[in-house]
Amino acid sequence: MCDGIRFRFDFSLVGESNLRGGDGIAAPDFRKMMALVDDAVDTLAAKHRRGEIGFPDLPFFVKEARAISRDAAALRAKCTHLLVLGIGGSALGTKAVHEAVGGAAGRPGMALSVGDNVDPDAFFPLLAKLPMKRTAVVAISKSGGTAETNAQLALAIAALKKAVGKRWKERLILVTDPSKGVFRRMADAEGLKNYAVPPNVGGRFSVLSPVGLFPLAAAGVRVERLLAGAAQMEAIFRHTKGTDNPVRFAAAVYAHYLLVKPKVVQVWFTYGAGLERIAEWWQQLWGESLGKGREGRAPVGQTPARAIGVTDQHSQLQLYQDGPADKVFTFVRWMAGREKGNVPKAGFAPDMAMLGGRPLRDLFDAEFEGTIGALWSAGRPIVRMEIGKRDEEHVGAFLHFWEWVTAIAGTCAGVDPFDQPGVEEGKRIARALMGEKGTEALRADFAEKVSGIRRAEIRIGEDLPVVPPRRKGGK
Ligand code: PA5
Repeated sequence: MCDGIRFRFDFSLVGESNLRGGDGIAAPDFRKMMALVDDAVDTLAAKHRRGEIGFPDLPFFVKEARAISRDAAALRAKCTHLLVLGIGGSALGTKAVHEAVGGAAGRPGMALSVGDNVDPDAFFPLLAKLPMKRTAVVAISKSGGTAETNAQLALAIAALKKAVGKRWKERLILVTDPSKGVFRRMADAEGLKNYAVPPNVGGRFSVLSPVGLFPLAAAGVRVERLLAGAAQMEAIFRHTKGTDNPVRFAAAVYAHYLLVKPKVVQVWFTYGAGLERIAEWWQQLWGESLGKGREGRAPVGQTPARAIGVTDQHSQLQLYQDGPADKVFTFVRWMAGREKGNVPKAGFAPDMAMLGGRPLRDLFDAEFEGTIGALWSAGRPIVRMEIGKRDEEHVGAFLHFWEWVTAIAGTCAGVDPFDQPGVEEGKRIARALMGEKGTEALRADFAEKVSGIRRAEIRIGEDLPVVPPRRKGGK
């Protein structure tokens, strides 16, 4: 089923001998980091053995993936559109994989819409444009307690009821914890079709669970192949020694720039359609897993930033090159593109004839190399990652690679990469502000805290009278 994956992970431009300006990693520092990585891998392996973390097992849930594919095929026979409701880890993986393999044009399946925001100006139009008589809804929440997804679900149920009446239940699928939370209770009470997320798999590590697999399968993505690619990466990680192991090597490099020579920002520069959403997925994984307080030590974390090649060369690159040296860069591209078109041989402005008759991709590739070269000569540390093909195997392998790198880097940093206390606090406050029962104390505490804020705002049109613009020559 899996033809074999190809990747190129190039760490040359973080080595001290290749990077001027003092930001390169010296060999003794790298050896120390590799030792820390080895310890972290042992710690994670022990957690895995105790059943505390489950993401390493997901690539092997092939039977479950096949069942999901069958269910998705049955749903495709009845409905043309799928509305996915979920946020954060319950949405980003689906968006990333779907777009990476080519979106609706790349795979024949249900038309996928992901509602991952409660902005009324975005959500109501999204709902209104769906042909509800031919639409199924999958609502995804590991905890079940996310206010955003619950509000969307209620709206989607109302729309389904209006469109198909009593048959609304046939059109709704829930993905949630196997035993806890309001989604689980609702699934059981209403007898709704549902899938369980393994309890030891958290949101941002769940793309290869039913959280990602069900909507992706419905959209025509070959989810068994996604798992097959991830399984290959898992095997490479488990069975490759020392510096030949790309996961360990990458974890050591990034942990160095997190802990030894801290770079407060990591920028992903992606060159290739379909990589932007993977960057968004990574942004949550990296930000939420590593950005933590530490008992008796300074907090840790690295702001994940995204840039799109070549567009952002004309926007952010100036800052990256000449601004503060506080960033590490990861350049990501597909090894080969899909489109082969050439630039015409004639019709150029003076002195631009060198472009004529050549594949447009030559220019794209030159920009990739040129941007890396420019940043490198400014002394910026750079990792290059090239993905063999724009298909399920490679995407599955790449996501799994990053889950491991993140888990290891977080463990090296002494934080729990699998929790998200800040996010939970935000969720609790949002529910309390909406009047959730039993949260009176939290609401009062919050009100008290914010009442102490000394206001410094200027409201034009309210506090300040609007002054009409002066006419030329007038008073
Ligand atoms: O990674 C996480 O755990 C979070 O970002 C969640 O994915 C997000 O908050 C959504 O949570 P839930 O799936 O419980 O609705």
